[in-house]
Amino acid sequence: MKEVKVGVVGLGRLGSVYAENLAFKIPGCKLVAACSLDEKELEWAKDYLNVDFATTDYKKMIDEADIEAVAIVSSSPEHCWMIEYTLDAGKHVFCDKPLGCSLEECKRAEAAVERHPDKVFFLGFMRRYDPSYAHAKAQIDANKIGKPYLVKATGLDPEALVESCIKFSKTSGGIFIDAASHDIDLMRWFLGGEITEVYAAGTTFKHPEFTENGDTETGMAMLKLDNGTVAFLHVGRTAPHGYHTETEIVGTEGHIRVADVPWKDRTMVYDQYGARQEIIENFPQRFAEAYLLEMVDFIDCIQKDRKPELTVYDGTKATIVTYAITDSFHSGKAVKVEY
Ligand SMILES: NC(=O)c1ccc[n+]([C@@H]2O[C@H](COP(=O)([O-])OP(=O)(O)OC[C@H]3O[C@@H](n4cnc5c(N)ncnc54)[C@H](O)[C@@H]3O)[C@@H](O)[C@H]2O)c1
Repeated sequence: MKEVKVGVVGLGRLGSVYAENLAFKIPGCKLVAACSLDEKELEWAKDYLNVDFATTDYKKMIDEADIEAVAIVSSSPEHCWMIEYTLDAGKHVFCDKPLGCSLEECKRAEAAVERHPDKVFFLGFMRRYDPSYAHAKAQIDANKIGKPYLVKATGLDPEALVESCIKFSKTSGGIFIDAASHDIDLMRWFLGGEITEVYAAGTTFKHPEFTENGDTETGMAMLKLDNGTVAFLHVGRTAPHGYHTETEIVGTEGHIRVADVPWKDRTMVYDQYGARQEIIENFPQRFAEAYLLEMVDFIDCIQKDRKPELTVYDGTKATIVTYAITDSFHSGKAVKVEY
């Protein structure tokens, strides 16, 4: 099958993971171009990833590099105009979450996708590709837990990385916008409905800087869906033990828990502290397989001219819900979600 030539924009915390996967681990593609505002990252792309074309100018990469597809992993406010520019240039697009930072931006991306039905648009909600979450969904679809009616989702960043979270909290739009979109997507996927109403609260005990920046250290939300199901969200920045994502799906005939303890592997260390297992430290470690598998699927979609399960509208809906949760957190009132 024909090799797909790919460019990547964004070589930061996550973009570098995708770039390495595209360069070395994914069959059927070749990473030939890279774009970043950071010259050091571009040097790395040239020297280590062997890309032929490296630039700080995104439009230049799209207009001049010999590529058929782009992975957009730039900062979130850049996503939607890049999606539009890339599709209009006749190239396939992978874009990481969030789709956009406002409803208006998401609508621009939707219109671009609608203008180019012959191109693949692939949204990076990679948790759907994580083998444990995919297995949970297969169990639900096979009716193993009856009717799923409640999802409890926890997503905690490690205290070890709290300084970068504090810095980011000034511009991120807040913890719900930054950290909750994967859980919102999973809730919709597992419960099979749309979120109609949310109520949120937050609290800060360790790092007052979060409150000073208009954000919260710990956030929680209750969500109602249009099919009578409900969900609970808990996000935070100060997990002492490591990076902790945990999801429970409760059904009429059974429960499924994903990662109730975020073990790093199956190793047990026996030492002066007793017998202990290590914990996942960060998101690239926890979701390494998912980041790889979703990109494998993106390339496969292009080669086989098929569409992925996730659509641009899933991205818009998740964005709308995270903004509604943020409104509720600031107003202290329940908020109806308007689509
Ligand atoms: N799916 C996940 O689990 C997950 C995890 C982390 C981040 N993300 C998302 O990935 C995206 C990147 O996050 P990150 O943590 O890697 O950010 P980062 O700040 O580490 O890196 C951002 C990168 O984008 C580049 N960039 C920004 N604006 C640009 C522009 N106009 N032109 C060219 N390059 C530009 C920067 O040079 C840098 O290389 C964000 O949208 C974030 O929400 C997703």
